[in-house]
Amino acid sequence: MTSYPHVRLRRTRASAWSRALHREVEVTPADLIWPLFVTEGHDLEAPVTSLPGVSRWSVDRIAAQAKLAVAAGIPALALFPNTQPERRSHDGGEALNPDNLMCRAIRAIKDACGNDIGVLTDVALDPYTSHGQDGLIDEEGYVVNDETVEVLVGQSLNQAAAGADIIAPSDMMDGRVAAIRAALEEAGHINVQIMSYAAKYASAFYGPFRDAVGSHGLLKGDKKTYQMDPANAEEALREVELDLAEGADSVMVKPGLPYLDIAYRVKQAFGVPVFAYQVSGEYAMIEAAVAAGAADRDKMVLETLTAFKRAGCSGVLTYHALHAARLLGA
Ligand code: PBG
Repeated sequence: MTSYPHVRLRRTRASAWSRALHREVEVTPADLIWPLFVTEGHDLEAPVTSLPGVSRWSVDRIAAQAKLAVAAGIPALALFPNTQPERRSHDGGEALNPDNLMCRAIRAIKDACGNDIGVLTDVALDPYTSHGQDGLIDEEGYVVNDETVEVLVGQSLNQAAAGADIIAPSDMMDGRVAAIRAALEEAGHINVQIMSYAAKYASAFYGPFRDAVGSHGLLKGDKKTYQMDPANAEEALREVELDLAEGADSVMVKPGLPYLDIAYRVKQAFGVPVFAYQVSGEYAMIEAAVAAGAADRDKMVLETLTAFKRAGCSGVLTYHALHAARLLGA
């Protein structure tokens, strides 16, 4: 008998113990990567207005944040620098400075936590350029691919030398994973991973992030000549295929929830570790709903994280990581 009333799907949902027994996926603190913003200054916590509950931390306070993550069972952090305006330039040269904000933050965390936590670093020039684009631009403002890749290679080596564990290119230039991998191998960084932002869309959900890193007012135009068209899915599979062939250890889909179909398809097609970035605009939407009295933060956060796991993600970058990890109880 395979039909009602012999089959009643509500039978296994009738009690909490049974629901627990039949649950298909589970979120744990080990699924979370916590993005942290770093800023110049001393003993500083600077709240990001557009991301209530998120702050930029000075380097001398960043290790304390990392320790909170370790204590909560979070396996990795993603670092983003808010570079001072006077250190931004047309060519983003600050990205290559071994003592830039990013490198000092990496060292502070690694000195304090060692291998208790992984440090993922974003590779792209937007925190360092005076025009806010992720790469070098020509006279027309077009982001030039091959010249940019050369700088990204230097940026990656700079971060790896400072102690980064995972290099995460978020720039969407063609060929950058192969170039970065080759350079890392040659420099002896054979165990430094590459998590490529393989399918990164030209999204309206990045607004608060650009506030946080201070590139918002600088960016003219958009990033549509390199970030993907939100209408495209087949193209995302090609991006992923290429990045894997070039040596990416894992791939990322970004933004998260609006692109859950992409994460699912990537996992189905390639069976590789897939991560989703629940981006700043997604965080801000949840916080706005909570502030409006329209939602329960804890339930919303856990439900969205569960959705990523159900879609096949190995993990999620989320500004709610510390909160979620504590809810889940390491
Ligand atoms: C930079 C970068 C961006 C984000 C991560 N790395 C912004 C952008 O591409 O403009 C967005 C993260 C977020 O919105 O939370 N290359």
